[in-house]
Amino acid sequence: MSFNPRDDSPQPTQLFDPGSSTYTYILVDEATREALIIDPVEEQLERDMAALEHLRLKLKWTVETHAHADHITSAAKLAELTGARMAAPAGCDVGTAAVQLHDGDTLRFGGESVRVLHTPGHTAGSVCFLWAPQDQPAPAHVFTGDTLLIQGCGRTDFQSGDAGQLYDSITQKLFTLPATTIVWPAHDYHERAQSSIGVEKATNPRLAGKTRDEFIVLMNELHLPRPRRIDEAVPANQRSGLRQDAGAAVPAEGEVRPATGYAGDIEPGTAHAWMQAGRAVVVDVRTDAEREWVGFVPGAQAVAWKQWPGMALNADFDTQVRDAAQGNKALAMLCRSGVRSIAAARRATELGLTAYNIVGGFEGDLNAQAQRGQLGGWRKAGLPWKQN
Ligand SMILES: [Fe+2]
Repeated sequence: MSFNPRDDSPQPTQLFDPGSSTYTYILVDEATREALIIDPVEEQLERDMAALEHLRLKLKWTVETHAHADHITSAAKLAELTGARMAAPAGCDVGTAAVQLHDGDTLRFGGESVRVLHTPGHTAGSVCFLWAPQDQPAPAHVFTGDTLLIQGCGRTDFQSGDAGQLYDSITQKLFTLPATTIVWPAHDYHERAQSSIGVEKATNPRLAGKTRDEFIVLMNELHLPRPRRIDEAVPANQRSGLRQDAGAAVPAEGEVRPATGYAGDIEPGTAHAWMQAGRAVVVDVRTDAEREWVGFVPGAQAVAWKQWPGMALNADFDTQVRDAAQGNKALAMLCRSGVRSIAAARRATELGLTAYNIVGGFEGDLNAQAQRGQLGGWRKAGLPWKQN
């Protein structure tokens, strides 16, 4: 799915934060070594400072594509350490950014510049940045934030999101760019680095061949879990990463959500993708007997919630589930049909872990013929499993 530009054309430096699957970009003017950084992540401050030093860059700008819900920016810290100026979209309420960006604005670094495209939809203030390097303006680079992702797009169900606006922004502002324009997203969960406008226009499953109304229906039916860090991240990002309670402890991983008591519900496919990407551990909370007789998920950790005989609670659940988290990895709980896994996810959350529930479990609910495996779940989704 990637698009390879000519080898000699100026390229952004792409950096990845595995904790949030966020891409940060450094753009450089070769002649002056002046640079601009897009969407820097707090946890990667040292890495980014080392990169700036290694490349002998003078950081002119830290910029944001929007007020993120999944990570905290290092903009204010970078600005303090390097003397860079902070810029953020005018519609994102980032009061600490000296420069408030509007559609059509340009930011200069040395002889280079990026142009702001206001692309509301993921959030009302979201923007993309277009960079056509001076020496080789084609293909240009577009940094799409969470507006357009590789084979996907940002969600629209919170933070002033609007599916109709997102459709208009993507189809009218991004898909009207030249097909060769290189797409650099703010996230990717499948180790893909870049795409192109032409490829996304032709193949993006959310958008290709979809009407505006079809897109809105599709977006409204996603039912994604609430981002774990949203309550902490958005207010912090509206101060460029400076917390009002600076120095106070960050809420614990797997902070309890009063609404549900666990991190959220995810589809089996999401759990599998997270497991593949090393983002989460799938924890099979069924009994030893069920795994033995019905089948199991290769790579999942077995931590029974209850055990035969008698389905007594597993007395060692707490210890075993802590071990399964390997430090503080997120957990995705899998049971037979998605009921025991909620109880297990709640208990893991009480222990301070981040735990999701896999909807439908391994084989879904019983159907009218008392058969499992037909009404959702891991096996029905066609995900890998084995039988002894
Ligand atoms: Fe976002």
